Amino acid sequence: MSTFTNNSEIKFFSGEDIPLEMHKVRMVSRVNLSPIEQRIAALKKAGCNTFLLANRDVFLDMLTDSGVNAMSEKQYAAMLMADDSYAGSETFYRLESVIQETFEKKYFLPAHQGRACENILANIFVRPGIFAIMNHHFTTTKAHIMRLGGNVIEVLKDEGWKVESDDQFKGNFDMQKLKKAVDNVGIENVAFVRTELGTNLIGGQPISLANMREMSAFCRANKIITILDASLLADNLYFIKTREAEFADHSLEDIVKEIASLMDIIYFSGRKLGCARGGGIMTSNEEFCKKMQPLVTLYEGFLTYGGMSVREMEAMAVGIRETLDIHVISQTPIFVKTLGEELVAKGIPVVTPFGGLGCHINAMKFVEHIPQDQYRAGALAAAIYLISGIRGMERGTLSEERNPDGSEHFSSMELVRLALPKRVFTLSQIKFVADRIEWLWHNKELIGGLEFEEEPKMLRFFFGKLRQIGNWQEKLMAKFLKDMPSGV
Ligand SMILES: Cc1ncc(COP(=O)(O)O)c(C=O)c1O
Repeated sequence: MSTFTNNSEIKFFSGEDIPLEMHKVRMVSRVNLSPIEQRIAALKKAGCNTFLLANRDVFLDMLTDSGVNAMSEKQYAAMLMADDSYAGSETFYRLESVIQETFEKKYFLPAHQGRACENILANIFVRPGIFAIMNHHFTTTKAHIMRLGGNVIEVLKDEGWKVESDDQFKGNFDMQKLKKAVDNVGIENVAFVRTELGTNLIGGQPISLANMREMSAFCRANKIITILDASLLADNLYFIKTREAEFADHSLEDIVKEIASLMDIIYFSGRKLGCARGGGIMTSNEEFCKKMQPLVTLYEGFLTYGGMSVREMEAMAVGIRETLDIHVISQTPIFVKTLGEELVAKGIPVVTPFGGLGCHINAMKFVEHIPQDQYRAGALAAAIYLISGIRGMERGTLSEERNPDGSEHFSSMELVRLALPKRVFTLSQIKFVADRIEWLWHNKELIGGLEFEEEPKMLRFFFGKLRQIGNWQEKLMAKFLKDMPSGV
């Protein structure tokens, strides 16, 4: 394992700050950039929802890092060694021992992905009227809790709600808000306190280990269950190591063990953590484990595969070990920083400080002329796809559920996330992204709003269909063709 802390220690003689890749590419996927006339048809067919685009119509897929990170040769090699048996597979024991070694938790329950873990945990700990307190929610987490009649309280520090900030740990709990929330609802009505690493919906922002220590000490003193969503562990680990002075000389292994020691239950999406496809829950609490076992078997599969393919489990075991390699976990944050800095230099509003996961464009400002009930971030994501073939994800009001009375629940942030799956994109592709976003920035007045054509009651952002208000997409296309007559 390397001894230097991050790639930025390798300086270019020219003085340029370039995110040097610490890997080489030995397998590639062909991508295709179709002309704008085809993209406008694809966009309409997809109901202006980037989730509904066919990948064949996409040039750079920056929707998410979920299940699309590049895998290492060691992961592929491990897949060939998988032991395909329903019960008692060697593959399970290999994965279990990696989990036990890395997180020092006794029991590991596999599940087919992160939200499956959330379903099991919600079924056990959530009942009508109960409160789940967290630094910040994730879409599927909240949906599971609300489906069972529970409530979500967010106690994020104020700075976390600011799109632009210097705060290095915007994902931190505000301890005063946490204590107040517990007082207000009564300890007996708190289901658990959930910590989300690499806080997804506010721009991949990390939480500090010092803050997790405080949160956990408070919860333990009050016998409140602590649950960690470790899906975005890799990015958060990088930021603890590089931004939290106390841990600069600590090994990544030790940092992970300390985080894990603060939590009663840890779950993760293996589509993110471990760069494969699957998930799992771990705990050292036998009672919790026994309660979860039947639900895992019922919803997921037997306890030694939990709905996952054994090949993915082998890849995940290697991927979790590779999460302890600074060169692996630094790739996304340094590329996010490069893209972020290019955009900031062009005057384009983005979330700062740069986090993990991807670069987050501030749609609230980018298209401030669009009323918020016309889905600013959704409209911007549609416009970005139209003029570039780049597929980003709306993270704003569209991603919220409506209030119980049917009114819009306006998100305090309207973001378009351009995800940077680990080790997938090249620097020239990042430059293309910055270039096209700059073009759009100069033509932003042409972007208009969206309205629903078909609105599902739950998780509408995944499969809802929208249409443009007016004909702004045709006007934007005409301007693009004027400036770029080739249509690409
Ligand atoms: C923080 C967080 N938790 C949970 C999930 C859900 O995981 P999955 O997509 O594997 O169901 C995600 C997925 O993006 C996530 O980012």
